[in-house]
Amino acid sequence: MKFVLITGANRGIGFELTKQCLSLGHTVIATMRSTLKNELFSNLPNSQNLILETLDVNSCESVSTLFSKVRSYNLKIDWIFNNAGIIDWSSIHEVDAESFRDIYETNVIGAFRVLRGAIKVMNGNNNSLIINLSSRLGSIHLRGETQLGGAIAYQCSKASLNMLTKQASIDLAEHGIKVISVSPGWVRTDMGGSDAKYEVEESVKLLLAQINQLPKNSNGIFLGEDGNEIPW
Ligand SMILES: NC(=O)c1ccc[n+]([C@@H]2O[C@H](COP(=O)([O-])OP(=O)(O)OC[C@H]3O[C@@H](n4cnc5c(N)ncnc54)[C@H](OP(=O)(O)O)[C@@H]3O)[C@@H](O)[C@H]2O)c1
Repeated sequence: MKFVLITGANRGIGFELTKQCLSLGHTVIATMRSTLKNELFSNLPNSQNLILETLDVNSCESVSTLFSKVRSYNLKIDWIFNNAGIIDWSSIHEVDAESFRDIYETNVIGAFRVLRGAIKVMNGNNNSLIINLSSRLGSIHLRGETQLGGAIAYQCSKASLNMLTKQASIDLAEHGIKVISVSPGWVRTDMGGSDAKYEVEESVKLLLAQINQLPKNSNGIFLGEDGNEIPW
């Protein structure tokens, strides 16, 4: 049984992660910008193991309030899913600087805020894992080798998130915390759209299976939902 914290848990991949982690018997702190739509969570399995908290990853105050609360619960977190994210599909010719900035604010700086805030509340037993939800669209290596691409700000943000993963995996090793990037594949959510390859249930099932069977020394890697490492 794990203690799991998930950002952006009110819909899409974050909601499904909450549901499947509860089904597996884990305790979940599901965080979201607004907890007003609590009824969404009322029919989830093992809901006695669910804690709902407010978190806007764009706000330092919100992050700090959340981790103060977590400290007061006196529990140590095993897994953090840095899942909250936004996209702008605009190409290099269309994107505006403000949108570019907004995407970095959430996808990179937001993830960084959560990661840094989490250090003191994590188990630190070398099984603690921060899982950054990245994307193959953020792989510099894959550029030009696939038909994917075009969402310039999003791609840059996920490449930057990957650097956060790599460097944090080195810097947090002495705290007994591992950090990885994962790509969930192309998933049918508000972000992924209806043409995407995976139903959200399938993508999350694959991701959790990969995380559960991670070799003990896996750290600072970029893992696909298919279990293969993705080149940075
Ligand atoms: N879907 C895909 O095909 C795909 C592929 C590769 C990677 N990913 C990554 O997987 C993650 C989840 O994607 P998804 O498809 O589930 O997206 P989604 O359906 O659009 O959901 C995004 C989630 O992030 C939350 N969020 C956005 N900004 C936030 C903020 N400032 N603070 C807290 N929460 C915030 C949203 O909350 P609100 O409801 O409040 O807006 C929502 O819960 C993202 O990081 C995404 O980049 C997705």
